[in-house]
Amino acid sequence: MSPPACSLIYLVVFLFLSVFSFTNTHAHHCTERFLSEAKQRNLIITFCKRYVERNGVEIAMYLHEKSRRLDIMVGARLEEKTGWLAWGLNPDPEARMVGTQALIGIKYMNGNLLWDRYNITSFTKIGCQLLPSAIDLNISNFNFSYIACLQYYVIQATIVLPMKYDVEKLNHVWQVGIDVAERKEPKMHPRGLRNYDSTETINLRTGKRLASRVHSFRRIREVHGILNIIGWGMLLPIGVIIARNFREFPLPCLGWQRYHISCQAVGYIVGSTGWAVGIWLGRASKHYSFPKHGTFGIFIFTFATLQMLFFKCKPSDRDEFRTYRNMSHHVVGYSLIVASYINIRKGINIMHLDVKYWLPAYFGIAGCVAFIFLVFEIVSWFKFLCDKFGLWIICGKDIPNEEANSRKASREDGKVQPSDTPINN
Ligand code: HEM
Ligand code: HEM
Repeated sequence: MSPPACSLIYLVVFLFLSVFSFTNTHAHHCTERFLSEAKQRNLIITFCKRYVERNGVEIAMYLHEKSRRLDIMVGARLEEKTGWLAWGLNPDPEARMVGTQALIGIKYMNGNLLWDRYNITSFTKIGCQLLPSAIDLNISNFNFSYIACLQYYVIQATIVLPMKYDVEKLNHVWQVGIDVAERKEPKMHPRGLRNYDSTETINLRTGKRLASRVHSFRRIREVHGILNIIGWGMLLPIGVIIARNFREFPLPCLGWQRYHISCQAVGYIVGSTGWAVGIWLGRASKHYSFPKHGTFGIFIFTFATLQMLFFKCKPSDRDEFRTYRNMSHHVVGYSLIVASYINIRKGINIMHLDVKYWLPAYFGIAGCVAFIFLVFEIVSWFKFLCDKFGLWIICGKDIPNEEANSRKASREDGKVQPSDTPINN
């Protein structure tokens, strides 16, 4: 790889990493207003947290050690006309949706607030109705209300923890949804990371987090996104722009092939590393998946690999297969770029509700690449029309085409030089 290409890549990676290393958001202390509301409701606090990236829910808890009584207050803004707020405990080894014994408050269109207990099973996950049912927690003082000054909907309850719930390693799960049906039925919640990450394992005695998806995966997700954006979204399209515009027309450059191959090879290596990180993430998050994003990812990786494997397989100039090989190289190349941009957008959609700087970054990069591509296209067409129709008045003085052709023909290697006007047939 050429030194300029190398330094460019280092610079881009450095810029990305330094920009994103300044942004760090996890669970925060809850807001002053929520805390004072909890105190007003006689809730002595063991811990109070605000999960900014996980539905913006705020949770306050207090454990009465001797009686194993747990007081909880869970609040969230339900901004749509209908909505539901859920919080529950999961006695299984992992903090996850299936198995959660949940308390759910529902807000109806007419302003009615209803609340009940729900046992969330694997049937819920496959789409069966979620209706109120008995749960294995002893609940009292359970209510769901609206606090106008906070603009929060709040679940409050007291729970006596059975012995199978370990207070030093307690799995709690929460969720916010929009759609509701009659008979106290909450419908499927949105399918974003902010919904899938809303679980945590905590030590109730200290309030300390023991395990959380956001905490374990956050950096790896960012690295995955950045590598994919640089590899598939920047280097590959730049390589295509080089091959399209610097070979012969409009800006012939002798080293175009070297730059094209360097860009594509580095783009492929960086992109494939990002893809491999994505596959790892997909496997690590075993309770949820993003099938469309994953399928696009596999398509991109497979065709990019084929493209790389066949790049040496180049029939000679006179071979009739040369045309077909070139056609397929171009079709696969352009399809890969389109698929990459679609998938980068999908990846950002999965994350952008949580991390708002990704979308502007995407539009910035896609816009720059599109702009450069467009400028070259306009220049090419302009030059082509000038050359074809001899519009020298608007195009300025140029070397006549025949002269350029004869210059090319007179060279030993028959290659066009930057100073020649390109052939236009
Ligand atoms: C209303 C009915 C519900 C339906 C139909 C539903 C459906 C689903 C589905 C299909 C997934 C996995 C998506 C995938 O595999 O890609 C999922 C994940 C998840 N859901 Fe629900 N859900 C419902 C209610 C709830 C409730 C009430 C909670 C919280 C108490 C919750 C918490 C979660 C969490 C944390 C995940 C991430 C995966 C996991 O930890 O298991 N869901 N949900
Ligand atoms: C063309 C570029 C991309 C490719 C080829 C790609 C590929 C993949 C693959 C194969 C998976 C695993 C899917 C699964 O099994 O569930 C994945 C997951 C994921 N990707 Fe991408 N991705 C790309 C771009 C992005 C971008 C730009 C972002 C965000 C900025 C992103 C964010 C994610 C996230 C958040 C996950 C799920 C992580 C988890 O399960 O915790 N991806 N990606």
